[in-house]
This record gives sequence, structure tokens and C-alpha cells, in this order.
Amino acid sequence: KWIVDKHVNEQKDYPHISQAAEFLNNNEVVAFPTETVYGLGANARSTEAVAKIFEAKGRPSDNPLIVHIGDRAQLPALVKQINEKAEKLIEAFWPGPLTIIFEKQDGVFSDKVTAGLDTVGIRLPDHPVAMALIKEADLPIAAPSANRSGRPSPTTAKHVLDDLEGKIAGIVDGGATGVGVESTVIDCTAETPVILRPGGVSKEEIESIIGPVEIDAVLLSGEGAPKSPGMKYTHYAPDAPLYLMEGSPEKIQTLVDDKQKEGLKVGVLATEESKGIYSANVVIPCGSRKDLPTVAQSLYDVLRAFNEADLDMIVSEVFPRDGIGTAIMNRLEKAAGHRWL
Ligand code: TXA
Ligand code: MG
Repeated sequence: KWIVDKHVNEQKDYPHISQAAEFLNNNEVVAFPTETVYGLGANARSTEAVAKIFEAKGRPSDNPLIVHIGDRAQLPALVKQINEKAEKLIEAFWPGPLTIIFEKQDGVFSDKVTAGLDTVGIRLPDHPVAMALIKEADLPIAAPSANRSGRPSPTTAKHVLDDLEGKIAGIVDGGATGVGVESTVIDCTAETPVILRPGGVSKEEIESIIGPVEIDAVLLSGEGAPKSPGMKYTHYAPDAPLYLMEGSPEKIQTLVDDKQKEGLKVGVLATEESKGIYSANVVIPCGSRKDLPTVAQSLYDVLRAFNEADLDMIVSEVFPRDGIGTAIMNRLEKAAGHRWL
């Protein structure tokens, strides 16, 4: 049943996409690439299909799913209204890594998709395979990230296989995803829109289009109940405890030396610029500090890679919290359980 089509691209026609679309119409679940991370798609109209997503991922049932569309024209039928700020965001960022929360239209998807909420998150992904698949299936597609719940989101088909082999009908392999972290989730139902999850589109970019927005305060402190149900769960944590540490590589190396003297096996999440400075049990570079999008792109692959070594602790460099850096630091803080050294 596995569909493995290495590096599907715009130039090819899509033989496997037709098969994947057929699976979706038969209420099976299929993983597919988007520009952010791989998604695990199902027919959003079918409770049976949507239940298979929760089952395969081991996802808590109170965590709602994003509905993916292949074309803007699909939107009006799915939501009660599209206000002016939402219109502007759509114009500026769709297709792209921005999920917008609307009041949902009644009776158009399974209640399981929205976990009983009266709002729904909608996204038009900027990926030729995702768009072709959704259009061909001709359905709204509910799709969370295609990882086991709690694991880093998958940025390659291999990550999906590692987590979900035998649990889903198939996977369309479009190569590594581009952005590397998930979409930004923004609630546009309030007068002042609220960012519920930082992601591929930055707060600065959003504010340049619609003016001031808020950011769910819980995301910054790590305390309390976030407005987005999914943000309350532990996520992305590697097997060994991860710690964040500010300061120069030389300062971090001093700590690594101390821990190794205590007999601990230590991993370091470094960058292309700093990797040569460290001496530790494992040093993995995660993109270039001069080009933060490359850090976002590598982050989940690097977090997964640490599990291949038997480590007692991992220390990570930290990144500036602007632009995509906000999303990078949000994911690193979650992976570290907000532990700092
Ligand atoms: O980039 C992405 O968004 C990827 C790709 C596959 O599109 N999808 C993704 O989905 O990250 P998921 O399910 O892993 O994360 C969706 C997040 C969760 O934190 C969920 O709680 C939140 O969006 N969410 C979904 N619907 C919501 C709603 N109606 N109100 C508030 N939060 C919502
Ligand atoms: Mg997820």
C-alpha cells in the first residue's frame, strides 16, 4: 500500500497523487508534504476517516485539526464569515504557512475535526503536491502533522515512516519540506487577532499587513492554559533531556567539559558557525546563525537525530526571537520543557 515517489515535483505528472486521492475518498489516511512539515490527511467530512488520524498519531481527542484546502474558492462554504483582516491575511499569505481560525460553518465537517469547538483552522498550503492532492481528492482535508503525538513534526517522508509505518494507508514522498516548522496559527475571530502558535509567517510580517496583533501570553511564559489546545501538550522532546543555554560557544563548552568530567554523555545542538568549537559526545549543527530559516529547516531532523546516540543530556544554543526565530525558540523551549542552564 505504500506510495513512495521520490522527489515529486512540478515538472512531473502525479501518478501517485491519483492513488492517494482515491485513498482519501475511501476514508483512508495518507501522509503528504506541505511547505512546512508533512501532514497526515483525511476526509474532513467523515468521522470514520478523521478517527483514523487520532488513532494513528495517538493524538488526544480534545486537540482540533487544521482543515487544508487546495484552492481559495473552497473557503466560503466552510466558514460563517470572512472579516476584513482575514481577507487581507489571505491576500498576503495564502498559499503559505498561515492557518486562520474562523467561526465554522455548521454541518460541513465531522465534529471530531474541531474537537467540539465552534471555530475551525483553515490553511491553503504552498506546495505543489499538497495542492494537487487536495484538488484531485476534491474534499476538505483534515491534516495534523504526520508524527506520533509528542514527537517532532516530520520534515521528510522517512520521518513519517519512522513514526507511522503500518498505521496509515500511504505516503506521498515530495522530498524534504522547505520551511521546517509548522504554520503560524492566528485567531481572526476577535477584534484584535491573536497568534496562537508562532510559525512560518512572523508576527512582524502579519503586523505589516493588518496592524497590531496579540500573541497568546501563555506561549511566552509556558504557564497556564494556551488558547490553542495543541500548545499545552509536551512536544518535540528528544529522549535525553534538553537544556537551553545562552552565551558563547566557549561558555557552553566549559559546561560540557564539567558534565563530561562527571561521567555524563553530552550532545550539543550547534550551528554551522560554532560546530568546530565544540568537543562533546555528539555535536550536530542546525543550520546557520546568519540565516535563521536554515535553522528552522533543520530543527526537527536534528532533534530526531540526537536519539540515534545514547546521551545523558543535550545542550542547545539559543536564537534571537525575531522573524522565524520566534517559532524556533517556541519549539526549542517546548522540546526543553522550558529548562535553562
Ligand atoms: O504547518 C502546519 O500547520 C501543519 C501542516 C501539516 O499543515 N499542520 C499542523 O497541524 O501543524 P497540527 O494538528 O499538528 O497543529 C495544529 C495546531 C494545534 O496546536 C491545534 O490545537 C491548533 O492548531 N488548532 C486547530 N484548530 C484550532 C481551533 N479551532 N482553535 C484553536 N487552535 C486550533
Ligand atoms: Mg503537530
